[in-house]
Amino acid sequence: MLTSYDYSMACILDRAGIDVILVGDSAANVIAGYETTVPMTLDKMIYHAQSVTRAVKRALVVVDMPFGTYQGNSKEALCSAIRIMKETEAGAVKIEGGKEIMESVDRILSAGIPVMGHLGLTPQSIHRYGTYAVRAREEAEAEKLVRDAHLLEEAGCFGLVLEKIPAQLAGRVAKELSIPVIGIGAGRYVDGQVLVAHDMLGITNDFSPRFLRRYANIGEVMANAFGEYVSDVKSGGFPNEDEQY
Ligand code: KIV
Repeated sequence: MLTSYDYSMACILDRAGIDVILVGDSAANVIAGYETTVPMTLDKMIYHAQSVTRAVKRALVVVDMPFGTYQGNSKEALCSAIRIMKETEAGAVKIEGGKEIMESVDRILSAGIPVMGHLGLTPQSIHRYGTYAVRAREEAEAEKLVRDAHLLEEAGCFGLVLEKIPAQLAGRVAKELSIPVIGIGAGRYVDGQVLVAHDMLGITNDFSPRFLRRYANIGEVMANAFGEYVSDVKSGGFPNEDEQY
């Protein structure tokens, strides 16, 4: 599973054979430059998700429900999820949290909308915890996470993302649950992995957590291409005779 927020990236991901494309609310950071995912809105998620589903022929598209669209009121949560499904043609929604959002999860599931859970580091709660450090190192928090994972599975979630928690704990959850557990910074003992595509491609370079493997340095490739273009235009080398009408 990898993220995408736009048509062109989604075409490439789908062609590459990715199983699941996540239209993450990390678009708030990567695309819009916000420090947190809190400002992301439902309208903007729908815009990104529509761009992605127009591209995708085979991957499952999962759309993050943004902060404020499901936490307070399960009726509002259902309306938000229905808007996502109707307006984007995605296959599922993803929601951050456990016991405290179960009423919303139940209501969305009862409308026939597939839900993916998200536990561990839940970036939408940044103002509650004040840090993006590894979560659930303490026993009490780890036990709550395991209980929440079971609750989400029992409610009917089809999958679960575990973000930035100890590998052994993530492995325990993956072993105890029968639904797929997808990790990000959660080690190797889970069923699948997710990364933010812009991070693993090296398009973003101000974010370097230990769990992130960079598979390319596209940021440098782009900067070099932009620099070459600028110097070609300034020197009169672009366009040449063959590049004009
Ligand atoms: O928003 C996002 O990209 C995510 C992933 C980091 C799992 O939720």
